[in-house]
Amino acid sequence: MRKPISVGVVGCGYWGPLLVRNFKNLSNCNLKAVCDVNEARLKHVRGLYPEVECLTDHQQFLNGSGLDAVVISTPVKHHHSLAKASLNAGKHTFIEKPMASTSAECEELIDIAERKGLVLMVDHTFLYSSPVRKIVEIIQAGDLGDLRYINSRRLNLGLFQKEINVAWDLAPHDISIILHVLGEFPVAINCQGNAHVTPGIEDVTNMSLSFRNKRFATIQSSWLEPRKIREMTIVGTRRMIVYDDLPTHEKIRVYDVRVERPPHYNTFAEFQYSYHYGDSYIPRLQQEEPLKVACQHFVDCIEKKTEPVTSGRQGLELVRILEAASASLKANGAPVIFSQAPERVSVSEAVKGLRVVHSAEAADA
Ligand SMILES: NC(=O)c1ccc[n+]([C@@H]2O[C@H](COP(=O)([O-])OP(=O)(O)OC[C@H]3O[C@@H](n4cnc5c(N)ncnc54)[C@H](O)[C@@H]3O)[C@@H](O)[C@H]2O)c1
Repeated sequence: MRKPISVGVVGCGYWGPLLVRNFKNLSNCNLKAVCDVNEARLKHVRGLYPEVECLTDHQQFLNGSGLDAVVISTPVKHHHSLAKASLNAGKHTFIEKPMASTSAECEELIDIAERKGLVLMVDHTFLYSSPVRKIVEIIQAGDLGDLRYINSRRLNLGLFQKEINVAWDLAPHDISIILHVLGEFPVAINCQGNAHVTPGIEDVTNMSLSFRNKRFATIQSSWLEPRKIREMTIVGTRRMIVYDDLPTHEKIRVYDVRVERPPHYNTFAEFQYSYHYGDSYIPRLQQEEPLKVACQHFVDCIEKKTEPVTSGRQGLELVRILEAASASLKANGAPVIFSQAPERVSVSEAVKGLRVVHSAEAADA
């Protein structure tokens, strides 16, 4: 029988307990310990899982709990120091998004993980979700034609953060999906925004990402909206997709609509755009918790010694974009140009390693 992977979670605030629950429920995993500087949060976890060791001392957690892997779910300013200590202690490491506060910090973590042969994964949760995996499948089948642009809106009233702006808080989800779907790194970024409530912390931002061949994406992020909106439109030359993440069912709709210019015309009177209105359809999606798929993937990568779909490299790419967005914000929206775009693994290569545990399989395990 395989020896289960021993996992510990650092940070038990809002998101940490969800990670604890998911790792706890994996068959090839033993959730042994959690660590938080806040005793009240440990009490909460102890109440749910009395058998899990709860520690405030990070050194004791790292060296005394017999862990194979560590999961970090603290505010982003602590990600680098905690992940560095974890990797240096020889633990496979899973970090919540965004990976760290700077690209230099991300590069250091990637370097340590590579030297030590450890799995380093960043939780870009949406890439493990059914809707995004279905969107990738539809695009790869060529149903959309060539992708023209993507428009994403993630808006709500709050939740206000004190240390990072709304772009660092919400846009990682959109950026990770956009890079994954387009399969390339942007050539330029610009971002505008304003801090209306907390001085110096932008609560509304508009980001544009320009890609080669005139492809582009826009991301609107806000903590200052009366309605919650989680919507992405992906426009191809043949069809378009609208992905609304809020309803529990029917999150994706594929529209068979397009507009074409006539190839030749002699007079302006002859010129007519050709609009095509076909049927729209709603693909069936597997009902599963994206975080569960992400946690399973981390454990699988440790067991099989493979690189995660969202490795440190993807974490670094995302932080580079957030850094560029911050620089552009400071310069009132002036574009930040990337002189050297990092090479990307193609989407088809990346999704090969992804295992989805279907309910039936999970029940058999
Ligand atoms: N993937 C997603 O969809 C998703 C959703 C929400 C949050 N997150 C990410 O999860 C992380 C945590 O977010 P949150 O909303 O749970 O934050 P939070 O502030 O609610 O919780 C953070 C916890 O970390 C603890 N902590 C802080 N410093 C620590 C340290 N040095 N050692 C041990 N514990 C420490 C705090 O006491 C707190 O309990 C962030 O990186 C956030 O971006 C991801």
